Formats: sequence, structure tokens, C-alpha cells
Amino acid sequence: MAISKLLFLLLLFLPFLSADVVPSDIYLLSCGSSSNSSFFNRVFVGDSLKPAPGFLVAGRSVAVSNRNPPPDSTSLYHTARVFTRASSYKFNLKKNGTHLLRFHLSPFSALEFDLHSANFTISANGLLLSNISHVNDSVIKEFIVRIDANVLEIEFEPVSGLGFGFVNAIEVFSAPKELITDNGAKLVDSNGVREYYKLTSQVLETKYRINVGGSKLTPLNDSLWRTWVPDEPYLVIKSAAKLASTFQAPYYQASGATREDAPDIVYMTAQQMNKDITVLGAKFNLTWKFPLDSNGMKYLVRLHFCDIVSFALNQLYFNVYINGYPAYRDLDLSSLSSRLLTPFYFDFIVDSDGSGNIQISVGPSDLSSSLGYNAILNGAEIMEMVRPRGMFSETEKKKRNSWVIVGPIVGGFVGLCLVFAAILALVCKRRKKPTPRRAESAGWTSVQAYAGGSSDSKLSRGSTLASFGPNGYHNLKIPFTEIQSATNDFDESLIIGSGGFGMVYKGVLRDNINVAVKRGVPGSRQGLPEFHTEIAILSKIRHHHLVSLVGYCEEQSEMILVYEYIEKGPLKKQLYGSVVSPLSWKQRLEICIGAARGLHYLHTGFAQGIIHRDIKSTNILLDESFVAKVADFGLSRSGPRLDETHVSTGVKGSFGYLDPEYFRRQQLTDKSDVYSFGVVLYEVLCARPAVDPLLDREQVNLAEWALHWQRKGMLEKIIDPHLVGKINPSSLKKYGETAEKCLADYGIDRPTMGDVLWNLEYVLQLQIELPIEPSEPVDVNESNFPTSTATHPSDLRRHSDEG
Ligand SMILES: *[C@@H]1O[C@H](CO)[C@@H](O)[C@H](O)[C@H]1NC(C)=O
Ligand SMILES: *[C@@H]1O[C@H](CO)[C@@H](O)[C@H](O)[C@H]1NC(C)=O
Ligand SMILES: *[C@@H]1O[C@H](CO)[C@@H](O)[C@H](O)[C@H]1NC(C)=O
Ligand SMILES: *[C@@H]1O[C@H](CO)[C@@H](O)[C@H](O)[C@H]1NC(C)=O
Ligand SMILES: *[C@@H]1O[C@H](CO)[C@@H](O)[C@H](O)[C@H]1NC(C)=O
Ligand SMILES: *[C@@H]1O[C@H](CO)[C@@H](O)[C@H](O)[C@H]1NC(C)=O
Ligand SMILES: *[C@@H]1O[C@H](CO)[C@@H](O)[C@H](O)[C@H]1NC(C)=O
Repeated sequence: MAISKLLFLLLLFLPFLSADVVPSDIYLLSCGSSSNSSFFNRVFVGDSLKPAPGFLVAGRSVAVSNRNPPPDSTSLYHTARVFTRASSYKFNLKKNGTHLLRFHLSPFSALEFDLHSANFTISANGLLLSNISHVNDSVIKEFIVRIDANVLEIEFEPVSGLGFGFVNAIEVFSAPKELITDNGAKLVDSNGVREYYKLTSQVLETKYRINVGGSKLTPLNDSLWRTWVPDEPYLVIKSAAKLASTFQAPYYQASGATREDAPDIVYMTAQQMNKDITVLGAKFNLTWKFPLDSNGMKYLVRLHFCDIVSFALNQLYFNVYINGYPAYRDLDLSSLSSRLLTPFYFDFIVDSDGSGNIQISVGPSDLSSSLGYNAILNGAEIMEMVRPRGMFSETEKKKRNSWVIVGPIVGGFVGLCLVFAAILALVCKRRKKPTPRRAESAGWTSVQAYAGGSSDSKLSRGSTLASFGPNGYHNLKIPFTEIQSATNDFDESLIIGSGGFGMVYKGVLRDNINVAVKRGVPGSRQGLPEFHTEIAILSKIRHHHLVSLVGYCEEQSEMILVYEYIEKGPLKKQLYGSVVSPLSWKQRLEICIGAARGLHYLHTGFAQGIIHRDIKSTNILLDESFVAKVADFGLSRSGPRLDETHVSTGVKGSFGYLDPEYFRRQQLTDKSDVYSFGVVLYEVLCARPAVDPLLDREQVNLAEWALHWQRKGMLEKIIDPHLVGKINPSSLKKYGETAEKCLADYGIDRPTMGDVLWNLEYVLQLQIELPIEPSEPVDVNESNFPTSTATHPSDLRRHSDEG
């Protein structure tokens, strides 16, 4: 274990790992050349080699070369192919999906042709990419195009009969799967900010790629061989900005950017507000202006961020504007990952402004304290959306992974490293000193604790649980002195958990009631409104399957919440901890049903619904009789109002359980809880963690692994060995299907918690009706449910409604 950890750590810091991931399609051509040329360590194959590599097909073209190449110019640019008629190159593709196409144009004067005066178009599979004329300097034109075809034909066509086209080099390669996605981009204009869905079907031409606060990066520094340039020339007021940089490599997390989105070094430098030039607490924006020649086009603006300037979480809140329109308000990067130094990018779709520029500004938000005013930007990319013309496959295909991994072992390690990085981040976070959270609109804490553990005392339910009088929750008040004595003055040995807000202690109240005591960092009053919100919400929640609030304390600048203590602790421990006797299938189903009831109540039972946000097997506690109780509402928040469909929010939750749609779109609905619950369902069946970095790569993520077997109809291959032969096949089938539906890619396709509940009850009935476990004889006639196998969940629902 220790050795493999070390191995992971080592691999984690090997910077070239991402370079081991190679695109499945990759063609590099040196045009007009009868030899190979090397360009930034890559070999470009001469298109005039003998025997011919065979990419050049129809048309009429000649190879030309520069007789007097400038000294220290790259040999790649000493030759070119000149097209005097429409001519094409053809490339066989292995993968559909997004590809990068690059055309190197470096004009020179050859005997018959002055390449500067070329006038031609470039198309890809009949789609016009670019009109090119008057190439005065070397340029690399880069296009990001989705190609769903087995062959890519790139055509160069002179504009008139006397004109000609040319190219020095061509790059074609498949892009990583997540480079361009259909979810998450926001359209920003005078009408506000809206979702934009069809990004992958757009043809994008790169206009700017900026390493803000850093130096020029060459293809050697980038796993997709991109070039990044410094931002200085585009800063409107240079003195307003101050460089920021770090030596620490960024922490990539599942919710954020990947190494392929931008190299580490882009995230390790930034520009921030130069606070030396003005009085303390003055607010101003940093603005960059990018000239674009064409009007009336739409642009993809991809902004890269990584908080390298803060010393603690929730210090940096800033606004992002594009062309003066608010694009992202109150951006708190640390809240997106509960971690500093985590890279993120955000995609915005904008028009150029009236004068053909794009302006990007960042400035401090009102949520930051005056001392903390700051704003950063680490990188920016601006891509023009080329108007598609001609035929092009617009079919809405599911995106496919167009990358292959060199060697499954290396690939596995890459995956594992990412997983491990995330886990490491979590572990570090837990060890860190508690940091007070500044006001986020709701949710006082992000506690990772559970009110569990092994204890011999029992909670006599209802005895001290306060009742609610006409004074609301005020009779839940507990004097600080009582909490002090209950926790032996916050004895460290009684700590059973910790979170961003502070510690959780086990305590015993005067009447011998065991409690879990959650204490905010003393003296920090910043979360006061949230503390009140949490009490207000929790005090209204009373449910057999939800952990109850016993009381709270708010005196001597303390903010403390007191919960009932739950005997057997987290479900996780009972599933694959060092348990004495494994839970039976029926017990597990009853636990799932209980938890589902609790969640169903949260979603529908309370005024506007509450979204838990952190459903996982450590947050489902079991009491002395294995009754499930959902715990830890630290991340919960009120759901959308009736007139809204979602809550926009920073992504929170736990690795392995997070709804993928939620982290793409950052919109919270109760279907995010359904997703997490689906992971718990598979966890209960397979008795293994949601994420297990020590397993083979394809097994690391339980959701993926279980869905793989579910879809093959062979779920029984991966179930807990203790359950083998004990589950009725129809019960297992229904259970697997229910979990699968919870894990649907889109929230809209997932069942509600109510549906999940009915389905689980049906699963239980199927098990009871057709028992396999001989130890559980069941008299079918005693069952309240119809015995016919034609029982339909809707029958069950009707039945339950009656009962
Ligand atoms: C050119 O490069 C290709 C691909 O790397 C290689 O297969 C070929 O042998 C090289 N040819 C020459 C003449 O160097
Ligand atoms: C190229 O030129 C043609 C005709 O001049 C025009 O219709 C087309 O929109 C142009 N396309 C691009 C990508 O500039
Ligand atoms: C390119 O060709 C088009 C169409 O013949 C013409 O309108 C345009 O002026 C030409 N551009 C150059 C730079 O020659
Ligand atoms: C190239 O130079 C010509 C003439 O000097 C100019 O008209 C043209 O706009 C320039 N082209 C570019 C792309 O800068
Ligand atoms: C890519 O898409 C095309 C057209 O939809 C299809 O004919 C082809 O089989 C696909 N190729 C692969 C490798 O999936
Ligand atoms: C970019 O790569 C080159 C060659 O590997 C290296 O010398 C240089 O330091 C790198 N630049 C940065 C900013 O990392
Ligand atoms: C920053 O720019 C935006 C958009 O132009 C503007 O609304 C805002 O007032 C500016 N903030 C400051 C502090 O100047």
C-alpha cells in the first residue's frame, strides 16, 4: 500500500505524463518536400518522398522551395506545395469527433510564384474553412472541427483561374474527448447569460491563445503542440496588472480543467490587480482588448483560471465581464473544488463589439472584503465560429473518446494519478486548519464528518429532541457551558470529524444523550447568516430517516450545531469496513429504501425542497437496528423555486458521486442527488468504494464499472461475494436497472427520488416473493403486495398511497 502510494506520488509529478497520451489520428506533412523535416521535435513527413506517402490525390500542384531561406528559419518552411488547380490531400481517420487541423503558411518568393500573392480557399470535406489572400508573414491557421467520417479530404482551391494556393505544412490530429463539449458554454450578450449547447458542431478558428502573466509557450510545452503568447500587448492599462506566479504544479480535479485543456505552466502564472498603484480597497477592473478584423461573427472565448494568489479558501471573489457584459459574477474558484491551485476553464460565446474587438475584464466582486479585493486571469483563448457552408455531418452523435493511451499500464497510471490527486487533495483538505467560509448564498458548512462511531450508549429517541413551539426554533438553544461539559471542553480525543468550517466532537448531554457537536471556528462571524439559515432549515426537518438537529448554541462568538449521535455509524463501514457479519440483501434493500425515503422527503416534503448535495455511503448512517438516516446537511441548500428549474451554484460534493451534468453546467437540481444515490446503490450491491484508485483503470470508478456490466446484462459478475447466490435474479435485475436509471447522463432522464423509492420497494418484494435465501422463509400470503409477477411499480405506488 505504502509503495503504491509512493508510486502514485512519483507519477503524479512526472510532468511528461500527458505526452504519453497520443491521438489516435495523427498526420504531419511537410508539403513540397522530398525529405522529412523536424519541427519542435516532431517529424513532418515529406509529401514528395519516394515512394510517395500517398496523401496528395486529385488536382494540379507543384513543389517549390526557398532558394534563400532566412538563417535560423525552420526547414519546414523552406518548401511549399503550390496549387494551380483545386487539389486535395486525403487522410484516413480512425476516430470520429473533434479534430485539430493546422495549416502552416510561410510565404517566400520562388522562381515562378510569389507566395505572398496567393489567393485561395481551404475546405475540409466540402466545408469552407478559410479564404486566404495576402499572406505577409508566417502564420499557423488552426481549426477545430468535428469530423464524423472515415476520410478527411482537405482541398486547396485557387480563387481565380490565374490565382494559386500554397501550404508549407499540415497537421491533422484527433483532439482529446473533452476539449470541446456541448455542455457548459454560456452565451453572453445584452440579454444576459444563457446556455449554449451546440459547440461541437461549430467550426472554430483559433484567433488568440494567451498565456496571461506568463511567457511564450511553444509546441514543446503543450501536449497538443499549441503556441501560447504573452498577454502584455493586449492589456488596456498595463500598470493596473501585476504578475502572479507559483512554483507549485496545479491540482487537476474531476470538476475542473484537464492537462490537455492548457499546459500546467499556463495555470501557474496569472495577472492580478496591482494594488500598489491605488489606495487600499479601491476597486478596478483589469481589461484586455483583442482586435478582430471581422464584424458580425460569433466567438468562443475560453478563459482559464487557477487560484494561485489566495492563501485560504473563499478569499477571492471576482466578476468576469466580456465586452462589458457580466459573464460570471462572484466567481469563487476555491468553492468549485474546495481546493486552491485547481485549474478551471469557462466557455463563453460572444459577438465582437461594435468596433470589432473583444474585451475581457476581471474585477473584484462585492462579496470580497476590501482587504481581499483581487481578480485574476491565467489564460485566454479566442476562437472564431466559422460559418459552416456546404455539406457537413451535423448528426448529434455521442462524443467518442478519440484518444488512445500508449500501453494500458501507463494509461492506467494516468487515470489513477488523477484519481489519486483528487483523493490526496481531499485528505490534505481534511488535515488543513479549519478555514472559515465567507458568505456563499446558502450553506454554512462543508462538513465531511459523520455522527457515527462505536459507542455503547443509546439515544432514547425523542427525549431531548426539542419540540417546536410557537417561538420557532428558539427552544433548541443549548447553553455553551452545557456543550463544554458535554464535550469535556472540546477534548481533542472526542473529535470524530472535521470540515472546512471546523470540528465535529462526540458529546454526552446532561441527560446521557449522545450527540455529535459541530463547532464553527470560534470568533469567526462571517458565516452567521448561513448558520441561521441552516438552523432554520434543519429545525424544520423531522424525519425517521434523517439525522435530527438536537440544538444549537450561539453565544460567546460561538456557532455550534448539535445533532443526534447515530450508533453504528456510516453505511460504508458496514459494507466493506472490518465488519463482523456482512449485511444480508434484504437488510441492504431496507437501508436503501430508508435512505431513499429520507431523500424523497427532503426533495418534496419541505416548503420548496432541499437538495442534499453530498449523498454518499459515509453520509448514510445506521442506528442500532440498522435503520438508515441521512446525515450531513452541511452542503444542502434549498432547491429551485417553482418558477426556476435549477439553482446555479459552485460545484460541491464528493468525488465519485458527483453528477457529471452538475459539474459541467453548475446547475443544481434534485436529480444530482438521484445520481449520487445511484452510485450508492451500486456500492451497496458490490461492496466496494465509489472510487478505488488501487484497482485497474477501468474499475477505478464504480459508476462506470457497474454500468459496463449492467449494460452487458452481467451485473452478477461484480456483486459482493457475500451476496452470490442469495439474490433472486428478478430482484437483481430490477435493482440494477433502477441504479442505472439514476446514473443517466442527463438529469431529465433520471427518475425522481419518489420513483426510485417505489422501484426499490418493488425490488424488495421480488426478493421476498421468490426467496432464494433459505434463512428467510416468507409466507407470500402475508405480503401486502400482489403476488402476480405482473406487478407493476404503479400498482405498488397506488398501494403505498393507500397505506
Ligand atoms: C520519414 O518519416 C516517416 C515517419 O516518421 C518514416 O516512416 C520514414 O522512414 C521517414 N523517411 C525518411 C526518408 O526519413
Ligand atoms: C470566403 O469568400 C466567399 C466569397 O468571397 C464568401 O462568401 C465566404 O463567406 C468567405 N468565407 C470565409 C470563411 O471567409
Ligand atoms: C482574390 O480573388 C478574389 C476573386 O477573384 C478577388 O476579389 C480578390 O481581390 C483577390 N485578392 C487578392 C489579394 O488578389
Ligand atoms: C499584407 O500586406 C498588404 C499590403 O501591404 C495588406 O494590404 C494586407 O492587409 C496585409 N495582409 C495581412 C494579413 O496583414
Ligand atoms: C463515423 O461517422 C460516419 C458517418 O456518420 C460513419 O459512417 C463511420 O462509420 C463512423 N466511423 C467511426 C470510426 O465510428
Ligand atoms: C518550454 O519547453 C522548453 C523545451 O522543453 C523548455 O526549455 C522551456 O523551459 C519550457 N518553457 C516553459 C515556460 O516551461
Ligand atoms: C468593471 O467592468 C464592468 C463592465 O464594463 C463594469 O460594469 C464595472 O462597473 C467595472 N468595475 C469597476 C470596479 O470598475
